[in-house]
Amino acid sequence: MSRPVCLVSGSSSGIGTAVVAAFAANGYDVVVHYNSGSDPSDPRAHKSSGEERAAAVANKLRTEHGVEALSLGADLSQPEAPFDLVDRAYAHFGRLDTVVSNSGVTNYVRGADGQIARYRFTETPVDHLEQELDRVLSVNLKGAYRLCQRALKRMIEQAENERRAGQEVPHRSFLFIATVSDVAPDSTRIPYGVSKAGLNHVVLGAAFDAGQHNITVNALRPGVVETPLTSRPSGIVDPETDQQYTVAETYGLMAEGGSQALPRIGQPEDIAGAAFAFTQIPYMTGQLIAVDGGFTLINGFPNRELFLQEGMRRRQERKRGD
Ligand SMILES: NC(=O)c1ccc[n+]([C@@H]2O[C@H](COP(=O)([O-])OP(=O)(O)OC[C@H]3O[C@@H](n4cnc5c(N)ncnc54)[C@H](OP(=O)(O)O)[C@@H]3O)[C@@H](O)[C@H]2O)c1
Repeated sequence: MSRPVCLVSGSSSGIGTAVVAAFAANGYDVVVHYNSGSDPSDPRAHKSSGEERAAAVANKLRTEHGVEALSLGADLSQPEAPFDLVDRAYAHFGRLDTVVSNSGVTNYVRGADGQIARYRFTETPVDHLEQELDRVLSVNLKGAYRLCQRALKRMIEQAENERRAGQEVPHRSFLFIATVSDVAPDSTRIPYGVSKAGLNHVVLGAAFDAGQHNITVNALRPGVVETPLTSRPSGIVDPETDQQYTVAETYGLMAEGGSQALPRIGQPEDIAGAAFAFTQIPYMTGQLIAVDGGFTLINGFPNRELFLQEGMRRRQERKRGD
């Protein structure tokens, strides 16, 4: 019998790379998906294209786990691209057992001066908001929506074929990588939160349709995770070195200051382990589950400054060996 097959969108970077590796380590053949990586407004720290990174991930997984790893590119902001991606994966392997919709972007866009600009809710200029909404909705909501539509269609076809052949229909699974920003408020990131909150509704509707074919649909909502997405400068300066903290460093410091129950931000492997586990539970569907170190217990966003100060104080204390 052939190995089960998993497609992970956006597996050329960050969380997606760790997720696709978790499936390969568990004996799945995998599709490593990349975007062009050529988005001119992208301030992430990558030195190579999405295609090169995906090829390297696929090579590593073949070597380390002896599975088949196919690398495919698609800009999921384009209407037909998610359908085409699923169909190419399905045509290649002849089966599709798990799909993880992980591709995502935040609502940073560059202004005319080339700098990333973000505004508070009531201060956002109309043109800027239009660009932000186009950016996040096209990938995070519309792209993920379409990916789910076509993946479920192909999974349902398989289930129907199995039923017709008198075979047992195995459990299959679709998982969205969403975010705790769907409910945690932050004035400068409302477009991002809107795109991911919209996804939550897709989960509920899709789970309803898919259940009768033994397919489960859920969302994993990460808190802050250290990835290229959070490696950009945060605008907050370390008073000792005068260097700007990255977004990940800022939230790491806040976590030390009590902004979440666990005093550290997440690593991609934290999310990957949970993602794999969630897709293996045949009786869990339509759930929106936070894997966030307890961020949503406290919600550090509104009191960012307070938690930062407290994080710095505690760090100093530890340095002094108090
Ligand atoms: N990092 C966090 O703190 C955090 C927290 C909560 C939720 N999340 C969610 O987790 C997911 C992964 O985030 P990450 O931190 O791992 O980000 P990342 O390192 O920036 O990776 C994003 C992935 O999405 C792909 N992508 C970007 N634009 C795309 C497009 N137009 N079409 C198709 N794919 C596209 C990228 O492809 P290329 O690299 O090839 O361009 C990359 O593989 C996202 O959905 C994000 O919203 C992240």
